[in-house]
Amino acid sequence: MNRYAFVLAAVFVALLAAFSRHADRPALAAPLANTPPMGWNSWNKFGCKIDEQLIRETADAMVSSGMKAVGYQYVNIDDCWMAKERDAQGNLQSDPVRFPHGIKTIADYVHGKGLKLGIYSSAGTKTCEGLPASLDHEVADAKKFAEWGVDYLKYDNCNNMKRPAIERYTAMGNALKATGRSIVFSLCEWGENKSWEWGRSVGGMLWRTTGDIEDSWKSMLNNLDQQIPLVKYSGPSGWNDPDMLEVGNGQMTFTEYVAHFSLWALLNAPLIAGNDLRSMSDSTRYILTNKAVIAVDQDWGGQQGSLARTEGTSQVWVKPMRDGSTAILLLNRGTSPTTISIALADLGFKPSARYQAVDLWAHTAQELDQTLQSGVPAHGAAMFIVKGGR
Ligand code: GLA
Repeated sequence: MNRYAFVLAAVFVALLAAFSRHADRPALAAPLANTPPMGWNSWNKFGCKIDEQLIRETADAMVSSGMKAVGYQYVNIDDCWMAKERDAQGNLQSDPVRFPHGIKTIADYVHGKGLKLGIYSSAGTKTCEGLPASLDHEVADAKKFAEWGVDYLKYDNCNNMKRPAIERYTAMGNALKATGRSIVFSLCEWGENKSWEWGRSVGGMLWRTTGDIEDSWKSMLNNLDQQIPLVKYSGPSGWNDPDMLEVGNGQMTFTEYVAHFSLWALLNAPLIAGNDLRSMSDSTRYILTNKAVIAVDQDWGGQQGSLARTEGTSQVWVKPMRDGSTAILLLNRGTSPTTISIALADLGFKPSARYQAVDLWAHTAQELDQTLQSGVPAHGAAMFIVKGGR
């Protein structure tokens, strides 16, 4: 063998060895919150009236209702899980009456169902409900959360001593990272410090963009409208969060909840149900488990949904889908039924003979000429996937 052949052979052997090393490795896991997180949170319905039985039963219901099967996985305990005082070692501990067996026991139970557990603290001296919180305790608290098997932290902004938000959220982001556990980091500073601009840099994977949602059409639209200028900030592992869902909490109509859910899906918003999963009606379950709408939420075509057109109380919202199709939502903000039409050319569709539109709530398909048109009930939405033309 001459020298060149020898060198070539050596390179070949080295490459082969490197390749087989890689081939042995398990495929890389998808990054955390690669798609908008889906789950449930106790706050909207239960406030502080929570305990371990509620969390267990909610996990059970997430499975038995079919929600787990369509992608919901986080069971998130909000404010009021902690005892009034830290323990003798200075660690957070669970409320002895509400969670007598501790958070690890709940986490084990939730994990046993194939689900994940979320918890809550504040980047302040106390939570919004006046309980111990994590400012200046970030390392110890993150360590506890990891030890307990927590998979998701919602990190609030109450009692923050007016210290800079980036500093406070960075401290917890670093502390979570240092635990080595995969924990979704959900920033909840209500948009006060524009966390969409720096959320990713502190390890945030979703960030609240507004104050708290209420179970009303007006509040839902108010949160919706605040998303309009934020389109460019959202994307895989860093989502704009217009707050948790109110679907099924009783103060809006079925039609309004369909619109709420459709809009959140179009925005690639986290889909965190906020109702009582144990006793929800069939119509609430029907909304929360609409697979076609959830598929829009979980799809990333390069941009979250955005407002394309407003005419009086009628709006057209549009989101590109990864496969080249387009999700189109027709929103009637008015108090009487109407018909909304949109010329596809006005949405940048190439002139093309025909398009197909699938109605994601009626589950019907129709051939379109150059216009999408639909009747839309008062305070309601119609949602379609339009194929072709882009
Ligand atoms: C804040 C948050 C809410 C909820 C409460 C709990 O208001 O924005 O989502 O977590 O605190 O006290």
